[in-house]
Order: sequence, then C-alpha cells, then structure tokens
Amino acid sequence: MTLTTKPRHFLTLQDLNRDELQRIIERAIEMKAQHRAGTAGKPLEGKVLAMIFEKSSTRTRASFEAGMAQLGGSALFLSSNDTQLGRGEPVEDSARVISRMTDIVMIRTFEHAKVERFAEYSQVPVINALTDDYHPCQLLADIQTYTEHRGSLQGKTVAWVGDGNNMCHSYINAADLLDFQLNIACPEGYEPNSELLEKHAARIQLTRDPKQAVAGADLVVTDTWASMGQEDEKKAREQAFAGYMVDHDLMSLAANDALFMHCLPAYRDMEVSSELIEDGNISVVWDEAENRLHAQKALMEFLLQ
Ligand code: CP
Ligand code: NVA
Repeated sequence: MTLTTKPRHFLTLQDLNRDELQRIIERAIEMKAQHRAGTAGKPLEGKVLAMIFEKSSTRTRASFEAGMAQLGGSALFLSSNDTQLGRGEPVEDSARVISRMTDIVMIRTFEHAKVERFAEYSQVPVINALTDDYHPCQLLADIQTYTEHRGSLQGKTVAWVGDGNNMCHSYINAADLLDFQLNIACPEGYEPNSELLEKHAARIQLTRDPKQAVAGADLVVTDTWASMGQEDEKKAREQAFAGYMVDHDLMSLAANDALFMHCLPAYRDMEVSSELIEDGNISVVWDEAENRLHAQKALMEFLLQ
C-alpha cells in the first residue's frame, strides 16, 4: 500500500507554526496533570512507534518508550548495531519498510540529511530525536518547563553559554518561533551555523563573553562541550571552553528570577558547576528531563491526528 497524502514530520521546530507549538505545549502540560491524577486517556491505542538509535540515549529512549505505553501504544527499539541499517542498507529502503509496519518513527542519528531522507521516503510521521544539527524534542520540553515555572518566553531574554551545537541551533529556531532574544556566548571556532545565524540575526547577539550574554537574562542554558561524535576533540574543547562554566557567580548577573537549564547528560564542574546544577531554586534540569515524556506524548498525538 502506498499512501497518497504526505505525513506530517517534526525534523526541526520550523516544522510547526507558532500556534501549533503553543497547542503542543498546552497539551503537554495537560497530559502531565492528567497522568499525575490518573485520569489520562489512551489516545494512541494500538499504535506502534519505531525508535531508531544510531547514538546513545537515556532520556530520549526512556521518554518515548514510556510515553507510547502511557498513550496506549507500544514502541520498538531499533539500534543500528543490530539492524540492517547499521550494515549499510540504504536509508530510503529502511524508511519504506519500517514505515509500512509502524505508525510513527523517531530517529536519532548523526547527519541531519539522513533524517530528511528517511522522512522523504516514509509513509508515516518522522520525529528527529537528535541529529548533529538539531534537537527539537528537547526544546519542546524546555519550553514546557519554562512555561510551567515562569510563563511565556515571549519577549524574554535567553542566554546560551557554550558550544554552538545542535541544542544551540534549536534555541535559535525557538527564538524565532516564540519571539525571544537569544544571547549566545561561545569561543572562536565554536559558533553556531552561520546561515542560521544570519537568517535570525535580528534576534541574536553573539559574544565571546559569557558575562555579557547572561546579563539580565531570564533563562540561562548550556550543554556539554563535546557532543556525541566529538569524543576525540574532548581535550581541545576543554581548553577552548575554559571560562565558559555556568556557576552561581555567572547566574548572579542574570535576572533575579532567572532559571538554569541543561538538556543532560551534564559534566559537573565543566560546563556547569556541581553547586548550580543541584540548586533547586535556580536549576530546573530534573523537571526539564521529565517533561520530555509529556512534551513528546503531545507531539506524537499531534502528528498522528
Ligand atoms: N537530553 C537528551 O536527549 O538525553 P539523552 O541523550 O539521554 O537521550
Ligand atoms: N549536544 C549533545 C546533546 C545530548 C542530548 C549531543 O549531541 O551529544
């Protein structure tokens, strides 16, 4: 069977408009409350999610698998180590086969183009669960977390301190969709993608100075200095990022009620101090991790509607 209508994918935040993003966040907050009250329904009964992992994961795997179970569906864990994808079967073929057997697919891989190619050949919605370039699912959880603690991000200032990586790129997209100012502090040579920067130049301030980026910010975010696939660069990156650790001193320059976020896994006393990440008055990293569960449930429900 071949479907004639194109499925809706979620490869970057730009696949949603502002209203849709808003609706997903509201639904995620509602699903979380219903889950806690024991009143959640099972809107995805009988649906199957394929989870393709070519990189490691704790949060993404646990949240998608638990989320699908909570929605009444089930999930298949497909690692590249033990599928034919890892032995060189073309992504176009894998997409056509897997999408004939399942209702929705999530992929975590290296090249963003691979997720795009999979989506092009898939009959069912495809979700980007992290590529070298973007991590949009994490942004859904981050936006939900900020909303729950402080309300809308519109008109606020977010500071990104560290590598101009996949998370930073997704923050750039979020700044555009949600209308906030994004201050990025990164060392020379570790800037985000230049085309993306240019496209959203009006909302972004790029600096080498973490203090300048954080001054007055409502939300301060960082991430590991060496992402998955950059393990060989770890030593060089530790040197390049010296002075970029987010700690209480740096946070004292932010707004009085500023929050700290990190997608995790975190490397203590590297990109974030041990004291700050454990300071529950400022750091909301555990809520942020938990919200992956609810935000992705709302996303899957939206894509399958
Ligand atoms: N934040 C995040 O995506 O974590 P995992 O790599 O554990 O999935
Ligand atoms: N930037 C990190 C995020 C991990 C969730 C990485 O890509 O490894």
